[in-house]
Amino acid sequence: MDILEARRLLSEHGQQQLLDYYEELSEGEQASLLRQISEVNFSAFHGLKAGGARKLGELSPVPAVTVSEIDAHRDEYRALGLSALRAGKVAAVLLAGGQGTRLGSDGPKGAFDIGITRKLSIFGQQFANIADVTREAGVYFHVFVMTSELNDAATRKFFAENDFFGYPAEKIHFFVQDMAPSCDVHGKILLSEKGKIAASPNGNGGWYASLVRSGDGRILESEGIEWLNVYAVDNVLQRICDPVFVGATIKSGFGCGAKVVKKVSPDEKVGVLCLEDGVPAIVEYYEMPPETAAQRRPDGELKFAYGVILNYLFNVQLLSRTLEKRLPVHLSFKKIPHIENGQLVTPESPNGYKFEYLVLDLIKLMGSCLAFEVVREREFAPIKNRTGVDSVESARALLEKNGVML
Ligand code: UTP
Repeated sequence: MDILEARRLLSEHGQQQLLDYYEELSEGEQASLLRQISEVNFSAFHGLKAGGARKLGELSPVPAVTVSEIDAHRDEYRALGLSALRAGKVAAVLLAGGQGTRLGSDGPKGAFDIGITRKLSIFGQQFANIADVTREAGVYFHVFVMTSELNDAATRKFFAENDFFGYPAEKIHFFVQDMAPSCDVHGKILLSEKGKIAASPNGNGGWYASLVRSGDGRILESEGIEWLNVYAVDNVLQRICDPVFVGATIKSGFGCGAKVVKKVSPDEKVGVLCLEDGVPAIVEYYEMPPETAAQRRPDGELKFAYGVILNYLFNVQLLSRTLEKRLPVHLSFKKIPHIENGQLVTPESPNGYKFEYLVLDLIKLMGSCLAFEVVREREFAPIKNRTGVDSVESARALLEKNGVML
């Protein structure tokens, strides 16, 4: 893209401010800015409506395969899952591009040390969980690790320093998630430097598009990988490529599966898997009206009982069709440092919007989903905060309950 094209494009979308300092830039910086401009999807900034709750369709409970039903078919599901793993049809995708602001650690969230008498990183514990499966299956599966521009180098370094947690390094593939530009309250895209568009990681929902763009899609094809188990970095009890879950999802004939747990209370801060207009979808806790969340069945159980734990299994073929569909964009109101009148301004209160795609929105696009209930004390120990709910403290207690020496 040359400067004339850029000027035309920007005036079409009312974003001419991006060239305010163009004449002050070096030749290299000018070329870089034009490249950044050519990559922006400007239509996303038209008629911004932030924070407004999306209009929900008609909600009804999703039928789930319950813990007792799973127990009754455990051997059958496990055998099916193990044979898919042994045939190399299953791989894992670790979502580790988040910034972990609530935990407040400098480095990648997965590098956070949760040990007490020994060093034990979140990554380390998750790879210990993986080892349970690879021992049973007798094979290693591919693990794709999504990082962001902000933590990619530190994440790779941490893996290398820790000898890839005993996992074969050639089976671990890092890819960097895409960034999304940030804008002010009027939808005007901000500059973080005179020649640089302010941008932040585009949320955990863009993982498949980023994986394909990185070139790793070729590994999926050449290795014949049919299923991807996507999981969050911040649950230390995460069971990864769990053969029983894999087998049950394959058996169901659905395009994806989601591990769910029974919610502890109507207002627990987890997304709820339910049917929206008859299609499986996840409704975020802040989107569901409190009176709906509080509804109970005649037996006293919550009507919308199943919370997601960010552990999904996706069929790759169906997933690639979702690339043509549009994931909704979520806006969050944040403090965004930016250039104003030629100076860097670091705001003390939120001044603009960051854009994110969320993995939970993929479920609706997939069209079908197996809700697979797991026992929360065994599989759900999220670490979002230092103390209190979903914290290092609560996760340590759950790890100890599961026999992990800290
Ligand atoms: P969270 O939504 O908890 O966000 O991520 P976070 O950035 O880790 O933490 P806070 O909100 O700043 O405290 C859920 C999962 O999605 C991943 C995270 O790494 C985590 O595994 N994630 C989140 C990404 O991979 N990329 C993103 O842009 C955001």
